[in-house]
Amino acid sequence: MRNPYNRVDAGVLTKLKEIVGSGHVLTLKIEIQPYASDSTEHLVFWPEVVVKPRTAQEISQILKLANERRVPVTARGGGTGLSGGALAVYGGVVLSVERMSRILEIDRENLMAVVEPGVVTEILQNEVEKVGLYYPPDPASRGSSMLAGNVAENAGGPHALKYGVTKDYVLGLEAVLPGGEIIQTGKKLLKDVTGYNLTQLLVGSEGTLAVVTKIILKLIPYPKYRRLLYAPFPTLRQAAEALTRIFSRGIMPAACEFMEKNSMEIVEKRLGRYFPSRGEAEACLLVELDGNDQGLLEKESEMVGEVLAEFQALDVLICDSPEKQKEIWNLRRSIGEAVKQLIYKEEDTVVPRANLPELVTSLKEISRRHGIESVCYGHAGDGNIHVNLIQGEISQSKWKEAAPKAIQEIFAETVRLGGNISGEHGIGLVQKNYLSMGLGPAEISLMRQIKNIFDPNNILNPGKIFPDI
Ligand code: MLT
Ligand code: ZN
Repeated sequence: MRNPYNRVDAGVLTKLKEIVGSGHVLTLKIEIQPYASDSTEHLVFWPEVVVKPRTAQEISQILKLANERRVPVTARGGGTGLSGGALAVYGGVVLSVERMSRILEIDRENLMAVVEPGVVTEILQNEVEKVGLYYPPDPASRGSSMLAGNVAENAGGPHALKYGVTKDYVLGLEAVLPGGEIIQTGKKLLKDVTGYNLTQLLVGSEGTLAVVTKIILKLIPYPKYRRLLYAPFPTLRQAAEALTRIFSRGIMPAACEFMEKNSMEIVEKRLGRYFPSRGEAEACLLVELDGNDQGLLEKESEMVGEVLAEFQALDVLICDSPEKQKEIWNLRRSIGEAVKQLIYKEEDTVVPRANLPELVTSLKEISRRHGIESVCYGHAGDGNIHVNLIQGEISQSKWKEAAPKAIQEIFAETVRLGGNISGEHGIGLVQKNYLSMGLGPAEISLMRQIKNIFDPNNILNPGKIFPDI
């Protein structure tokens, strides 16, 4: 890969130290190492320097300098992304927002929060919960992911099903453009149709258009009651079919998760803790219901239980103790991390929910045909299944040959079923060469033009989203 950028020379380093203070400029290999990878497929790209600014003004100066000197800049939050969004593929500067971690305001009258970009997702969730409020977007990595990263990737999570993803909560942003200009998009307003919606253009732009320095978020009241149903099924198809039936009965669960047997085995082995009564099940469903009316919740959980039984669930466990719910959720949320200890490639398929039974059957069939083990789990209520291809026992050469073919077929099948190539992890580095399977040439060209308007010198997170020409 040709690197068209300038190196970070002594002059740039001196200026960076003047901007943020020398204690916040890292150059030693041992200091930089944690910033050389994110949570994507064991990939490693070394930045030349890591800077940790404290203010939007400092970020503005850093970007102005990088633009003048044609040095690439990759912004980074918690480094928990799964498509390589925070990887410095051309070296240069990694700009970490970790020092910008203050919750500036929790507005209990307007149900909004204003935060700095480096606030950890779960910390915000816990703080707002203390005053009876809820910030629902909950990526599996919420214990260490930062809100700027969630905004950049438009992160989802299990509760996206009922409550939506990050974009549904972002009302406004302060952000720095690659040329150094600081912009404000949106306000503390629930309705605002004043001009183009720049806020939503930046959400999900994977750090390629601007560096976010402040976020205005919508909050909602915290639901009083929760109930979690757990059901193992003899086959994948029965689990997927049961799930689609729940919705046609007019019930909207808060979350509806699907776990294939091997995904559960992998996490159990890693944590030494176990899902209940799995028996001979090939797949399990987790269905969470929530609300403020306990009677209604009970009625709905009975109805869901009936549907699960109708599709031959081997058991239906209703967990209403918060401890039991926490334990099962913790196992579910840890699957991704456990699978990622193996040699793997993860695809983030998404289809209309009703096509889920066909998708899960096809995913298994495709990987089997290529002689590759696959592990499927995910947010089935959203039609969003993570399929991890595992190298397992096959040779390196067979893996290198078979995995790309299997991925190509998986994406083709996903698109054939009306879906797309990423539901919540983004395109980033690892999916960019498949972009044309999910979008047409006119749309890709329009997106390239938008990138060019924001960042004509292509210094911000280069090498992402768009296929190399
Ligand atoms: C999940 O649903 O567990 C996350 O998206 C993480 C992952 O797939 O690794
Ligand atoms: Zn997920």
